[in-house]
Amino acid sequence: MAEVVLENVFKSYDQTSIIRDVSLTVHDREFVVMVGPSGCGKSTLLRMIAGLESITDGTIAIEERIVNAVPPKDRDIAMVFQNYALYPHMSVFENMAFGLKMRNVPKAEIKTKVDEAARILDLEHLLDRKPKQLSGGQRQRVALGRAIVRNPKVFLMDEPLSNLDAKLRIQMRTEIAALHKRLNATTIYVTHDQVEAMTMGDRIVILNQGKIQQMDTPLRVYQDPANMFVAGFVGQMNFLTGILEAGGLRLGDGVLLTLPDALKPQGEQLSGRAAVLGVRPEHWLPQSAPESGQDFDVVPNRVELLGSEQMLHFALGKQAITARWPSDLPVSEDQPLSIKLETNKALLFDAASEERIV
Ligand SMILES: Nc1ncnc2c1ncn2[C@@H]1O[C@H](COP(=O)(O)OP(=O)(O)OP(=O)(O)O)[C@@H](O)[C@H]1O
Ligand SMILES: [Mg+2]
Repeated sequence: MAEVVLENVFKSYDQTSIIRDVSLTVHDREFVVMVGPSGCGKSTLLRMIAGLESITDGTIAIEERIVNAVPPKDRDIAMVFQNYALYPHMSVFENMAFGLKMRNVPKAEIKTKVDEAARILDLEHLLDRKPKQLSGGQRQRVALGRAIVRNPKVFLMDEPLSNLDAKLRIQMRTEIAALHKRLNATTIYVTHDQVEAMTMGDRIVILNQGKIQQMDTPLRVYQDPANMFVAGFVGQMNFLTGILEAGGLRLGDGVLLTLPDALKPQGEQLSGRAAVLGVRPEHWLPQSAPESGQDFDVVPNRVELLGSEQMLHFALGKQAITARWPSDLPVSEDQPLSIKLETNKALLFDAASEERIV
């Protein structure tokens, strides 16, 4: 059971605390994606799991063995680094074979494993080249290949696709998902890319300032975010700030948003409190839509056509809103428009703590 369990893990450099009380369990064979803004501690956390960084406090266990004091080479982990370094004087083949050679794996077995990895990663025709004769994307694939040939129990991947162009990224995303199915290794995958996070992971961990904000399936994180940070980080969300009253949420400019039925009791109970209604762009509908909701007359100040959909930018009172509509609906900039807020899909947050109220 290559389960990875972190319990109350902390990391500080000098007096600065970087990882703050992280506890999480990655199940055997699970694919967990870790996302968060730059500098939030993703690489630090991965490096601690790999054993490349010491732990200030807490425990990390792999396969039910606490590995705090176990050196990286004895953890049965392979890591693909954000800033991978290939050996410049070695060929692609030798770069991928190096780790196995150091472990005294027989030559024939090394060749089989490297050839297999090269086939998976479409590097077969490049095996004799040196890294400087490769594109950035090809080098990144060699770095992935080095990890694959090790056949580890746990894969740690730190933004492995960040140097690839959009097309290759999509292709590699599918390849890595397929690879994971075949290798069945527990995987922790760090990315900035929302699409990668939503499509690749069994579960997503959202990290901010060294703290876990939420860990759940992609869909639940999207539909049921724990706080405003998660809601705004995974997908887009419009935030409308106001004061709760019996009838709903009164925006600063006088507009009253009717609270969804599910939130009404909380609204009445918390009357007078500053709150934020969170609405996804897809929850602003044309007035003709069958869904029930609250109608508003607005004037889009900008319409962005994105092919299959269009983004409508308008103001509700003084608050800027973005709505996502199918592109075949006729909308013009500066022309009045009736729009419906699907209130039942809206979420309510506390304005001060930014946590979900319900
Ligand atoms: N050796 C170090 N000494 C002091 N501070 C460090 C050290 N390494 C990292 N940090 C700090 O720790 C924080 C987390 O860094 P980390 O590299 O884990 O972020 P990240 O989430 O991987 O960011 P990115 O998405 O940009 O790669 C940053 O503020 C960074 O400056
Ligand atoms: Mg990083």
